[in-house]
Amino acid sequence: MSSEPFNNVYLLPQTNQLIGLYTIIRDKNTTRPNFIFYADRIIRLLVEEGLNHLPVQDLTIETDTAEKYEGCSFMGKICGVSIVRAGESMEQGLRDCCRSVRIGKILIQRDEETAQPKLFYEKLPEDIANRYVFLLDPMLATGGSAMMATDVLIKRGVKPERIYFLNLICSKEGIDNYRAQFPDVKIVTGAIDKGLDKNKYLVPGLGDFGDRYYCI
Ligand code: PRP
Ligand code: URA
Ligand code: MG
Repeated sequence: MSSEPFNNVYLLPQTNQLIGLYTIIRDKNTTRPNFIFYADRIIRLLVEEGLNHLPVQDLTIETDTAEKYEGCSFMGKICGVSIVRAGESMEQGLRDCCRSVRIGKILIQRDEETAQPKLFYEKLPEDIANRYVFLLDPMLATGGSAMMATDVLIKRGVKPERIYFLNLICSKEGIDNYRAQFPDVKIVTGAIDKGLDKNKYLVPGLGDFGDRYYCI
């Protein structure tokens, strides 16, 4: 389901289970092992939801009871692209669902003073233009990093409608900024937060995702 009023934004069903997971990872007292474990559970849900939107074709098979089953099979090739560093936390969740999936990397860092993104490095699969791309970054705050990464993909020939941007938390203004530039990219998220603080961190948010997953 698309989440109104945001076109092309797919918000995970806000079940008690999901809210419980977010309650743990948003809690400032959660330890790093627990943060990783519960963030990974949300990441798995985001990947599964992203996969739901890929095209399929009809496929009928025979079961062991000699009956037919009218099912479907996945069409097209996919790859992941993580925005380093925090986006790398989502790679394993994608690998758990898509065996030996190709994964590209784009290193973009937000300047700590100005919150402006800077592109340092990109390494992407050669045939990325022929693939559906799962762009991975847990946080969409101002949208600057995601827009810069999406520009890189489009310059490499990826069609916007083939990009699925998977993240754990978005801000409303981040979605608006991103949507204005890339209306055809699908955003798959688990939470839409009310805004940003003076340092351009999401509120209520969870703090610095990369630090909590990798360092603190
Ligand atoms: C964080 C996050 C996003 C970006 C979001 O990365 O992972 O990439 O900020 O903010 P934006 O929407 O305002 O651009 P950061 O640059 O802090 O680096 P990290 O991945 O090393 O934590
Ligand atoms: N990056 C993060 O890790 N958290 C935010 O709230 C914003 C950017
Ligand atoms: Mg980042």
